[in-house]
Amino acid sequence: MTQETSALIASGVAAVQARIPDFPKTAIVLGSGLGGFAKGLSDATTVPFGDIPGFSRSTVVGHSGNLIVGTLDGKRIAVMQGRIHAYEGHGGAAIATPIRILKRLGVETLVLTNAAGGLRTDLGPGSIVMIEDHINFAQFNPLIGPNDDSFGPRFPDMSAPYDSDLRAKLETAAAAAGVPLKKGVYIFVLGPNFETAAEIRMFAKLGADLVGMSTVPECLVARHAGIKVAGISIVTNYGTGLAPSAQSHEETLAIAAQAGQQLEQLLRKFVRSL
Ligand code: HPA
Repeated sequence: MTQETSALIASGVAAVQARIPDFPKTAIVLGSGLGGFAKGLSDATTVPFGDIPGFSRSTVVGHSGNLIVGTLDGKRIAVMQGRIHAYEGHGGAAIATPIRILKRLGVETLVLTNAAGGLRTDLGPGSIVMIEDHINFAQFNPLIGPNDDSFGPRFPDMSAPYDSDLRAKLETAAAAAGVPLKKGVYIFVLGPNFETAAEIRMFAKLGADLVGMSTVPECLVARHAGIKVAGISIVTNYGTGLAPSAQSHEETLAIAAQAGQQLEQLLRKFVRSL
């Protein structure tokens, strides 16, 4: 990592600390259409990404671009409302820097949520799926470049990217909230186009259950820095060819908003158990 990046991280940390001196240890990244979750926070302080050096604004509809700290059911948490994606043309640093700023602010647990396509017949629109493992099919990696040993090792282990203790807690929280929680492997594609039917057939054969354009880069940066990660997908559509209709971003947003309410019930129970 360059000296400029280290300086950027330090100024990002300072900008957040000036507004939120006592930063929580748990952060949640909200995926496409899930930004409404932040409304459930009380005593919230909102810092627009534009006010934080190192945070870039997403150009995608459905991603607002705020860092919000507030209380959910008595537990203080941070929420990233909106994220940036590799397909927007950002380099790895633009994705890595916000996660590293969270690390320096003391975050120990990161919950990554996303909207995804379902590759199994039992993963239809509206399904809520706990990510058990991932495939970095895009081969986009924000850890490429000089390694900053102060965050983590050159060759980080990925034998358990999604923490087993957090997965157990998610299952308990889902049972308590009465939310059916499925499990699956997420395959990361670069996008921005939705997949062809042939690609979806290939991904299913490769062992993937979900397909999406986010989450994996953030997971890699977080695990490199020793942050524990949980991942949750909201299935907004079947993968191309598995259902008669074509994909659209509008459909993604509409389904995500509906399932988002169930996700909120799940996350409420989950954050209390941390
Ligand atoms: N493919 C990729 N990303 C997605 C999809 C999909 O079908 N649905 C929501 N995000």
